[in-house]
Formats: sequence, structure tokens, C-alpha cells
Amino acid sequence: MSVNEKAVIRGLRDVAAAETKLSYVDPNGSLYYLGYNIDDLIGRVVYAEVAYLLAHKRLPKKQELDEFSRQLVIEMNLPDYIIESIKKAPRTCPPIDVLRTEVSHLGEYDPDSGDLSEAANFRRATRLIAQVPAIVAAINRIRLNKPPLTPKEDFGLAKNFLYLFKGEIPDETEASVIHRFMLLHADHGFNASTFAARVTASTNSDMYSAVTSAIGTLKGPLHGGASEKVMDMLDDIDLEQDIDEYIQGLLDEKKKIMGFGHRMYKAQDPRTKHLRGIVEEFVHRERSLALYNRCIQIENSVYEKKKIYPNVDFYAAVAMDAIGVSKQFYPLFFASSRISGWVANIIEQYEDAVLLRPSADYVGEFGKRFIPIEER
Ligand code: CMC
Repeated sequence: MSVNEKAVIRGLRDVAAAETKLSYVDPNGSLYYLGYNIDDLIGRVVYAEVAYLLAHKRLPKKQELDEFSRQLVIEMNLPDYIIESIKKAPRTCPPIDVLRTEVSHLGEYDPDSGDLSEAANFRRATRLIAQVPAIVAAINRIRLNKPPLTPKEDFGLAKNFLYLFKGEIPDETEASVIHRFMLLHADHGFNASTFAARVTASTNSDMYSAVTSAIGTLKGPLHGGASEKVMDMLDDIDLEQDIDEYIQGLLDEKKKIMGFGHRMYKAQDPRTKHLRGIVEEFVHRERSLALYNRCIQIENSVYEKKKIYPNVDFYAAVAMDAIGVSKQFYPLFFASSRISGWVANIIEQYEDAVLLRPSADYVGEFGKRFIPIEER
């Protein structure tokens, strides 16, 4: 029995927890960053431009973007203590655990992490937008027993990220894909990881703590961990298998189909068409074509049976596969892009200056007689 008068909004469904000017998720299938429809931005801006837009709430002028990009590339040079710490991390744990630890580690070495002034927060935000992807790249290199590389001055952030990650200079297609991929993942309303970041920031804790909360939240398979599970599913389906039967089997077992469904969208996720389009750019390759064909069949089958659409994680998995990212790193590519949304939201939350602290509906017991430990 409940003692509260208040109704519980399970899962905080449809609850607006604060105002935001950063992104608008239109349930009818559109996504806006600071009022710009992502369909109008994609392919026309570089990822750093979107990161600037989110942090500064306006698009940069050419000179401002050049300076911001230059700063980001400088910040991609990781301090030695991070490299040494990544080397000591167990090779067996999911790499996102290493990222979570290293972001927290960065906070230990920031002498003014408690300074929440606007200038200090912008400095820190720029650093994190650059260092999260740089850490991801270093984790990959170290796990492959290769030395981390130095970013190239003339590459900008997104292209450098792929270069540092793979150890090969991205060709024109790959460079264009990574910019678009990062743009599509940059921000998305009060998704679970952004909300976690905002809750932490709402206590006036520091930005590193808030981003650490966000990474821990993103890791889950209902959120950023979904794309890795999508590839598990694609790997699980053998060539001869009937896709319809496979999907029906999962649904009969009451399992969720990974990469499908969304809390916010009643229509298609607006990011899906762009990610499907990216995958289509690679179908001249045998592997991408095979994965793409399976995805199309899964998409049709799930829609027929459940009337739900793929979300951002579905084709993102195959897009990342196409540019040479192994599946354990999918959530880390998500984090490397969403960091721009996280830091912008953290700054906005500091500006709002209100503690995010809901109440609970207590349904437990009262008046129990205490029994000392020896008598239990
Ligand atoms: N597979 C099968 N059925 C589903 C799925 C799915 N992936 N998603 C939703 N449904 C069904 C669900 O069973 C329910 O049907 P019914 O009304 O018949 O019981 C209905 O759709 C509503 O689902 P819900 O679970 O109430 O929706 P939710 O808003 O609580 O959950 C979700 C949203 C994303 C957690 C869920 O769709 C899901 O678990 N999807 C799979 C994991 C995934 O792909 N996550 C990535 C989310 S998008 C990007 C991100 O945030 O990282």
C-alpha cells in the first residue's frame, strides 16, 4: 500500500524534468539541434561545428571554427598518466569500463575541477570533447599491442579520431562517414545518459563526475550498449536461417529485438535513414552487403510483427562495422560523439541551478519490532 498521494510516473515516461534549448526530439520523427533540423545539417557541417553549436548555442563563424578545431586537436594529445593507466587496465573487461575510469581519472588531475565558472566549464568541455575520443582510440591501440598515435594538425577532430583509432589515414568516404556518424549521435534530449549527467551536475558536482555518470548509464544494452547487441544478433543469424522465424523465436521468448523501439518516437527515428544511407555506401563490399540484406529483412519482419521501427543503434552497428570498428567499441563511438551533448547539457544544468531530486512512493512496511542480531 502506498503512503504518498502522488502518482508514480513509471520510467519517468513523458515527464519533462527541465527546460532545454539544446535539442528537440519530435515524436513525429524529427530531431533538432538548437533549432536546426539534423536533415539540414548532415553532410553540410563537420562534427566540430555541431560540438561548437551545442556548447555555445550558435553556429561558429569560419575563424571561430578553425580556432575551436585547432584547440580540439591540441587537446587530443593525452597526458602520460592516462596512457599508463590504460596499459594497466585488464584486457578482459569491456573497453567502455576503461573509458569510464579514465574520464574519472582526468578529473583527479584537473587542479580547478571544482571551479564551475563559465570560462572554466568551456575550457573543460573543449578538453572532454577531444579527450574522450582520444582515450577510446588509445584503448584500442593498446589492446592491439600497438603504441597510441599523435593527432595530425590538419585533420580536425572526427578524422583524427578514426585515424588514431585505426592507425590508418581514413579515405574520403570514411572521413565523411565519421563526421556524419558523430553528428547523428551528438545530442538527443533527456536520454538516460544525458539525464544521469544532469542529475550529477545538479548537485554542483564537477563535469568529470557528471560525464562518468553518463558513461556508466550509456553502457547498458537498453541505451548505448544496444548496437553491440545488434551485431551479436547479426552474428547469431546464420546464412541459411529464415529471418522471420528467428525474429518470431525471440518475440515468443519475450525478448526485445535489439536496435528496435524507442521511448520518444512514434514514427521512424530520423537518424535511421541517414545511417541506413551510410551502410548503402558500402554495399559494394561483400560483408556490408550481406549485413545490409539481413538488416532489411529484420526491419521488415519486426515491423510486420510489432509495428516498431529501428532506432539509431540498428544501422549504426553495420555502419561502424563498415569503417572497421569492432563491436565491443560501438558504445565507445557513441560516447565519443555524445560527449558534445553531455557537456552542453551539464553546462545548461549548472545555469538552471536546481537540484534534480524526485520523490519515491514508499510501499514498504512500518512499525516493525527491532530484533538484535544475536536473536535473529
Ligand atoms: N523488441 C520487441 N518489442 C519491443 C521493443 C523491441 N526492441 N521495443 C519496444 N517493444 C514493444 C514492447 O514489448 C511493448 O509492446 P507491448 O505494448 O505489446 O507490451 C511496446 O513495444 C512498448 O515498449 P516499451 O518497452 O514500453 O517501451 P519503452 O519506451 O519502455 O522502451 C526501449 C524503449 C528503447 C528501452 C525499448 O524499445 C527496447 O528495449 N529496445 C531494445 C534496446 C534498444 O535498441 N535500445 C536503444 C534505444 S535508442 C538509442 C539509445 O537510447 O541508445
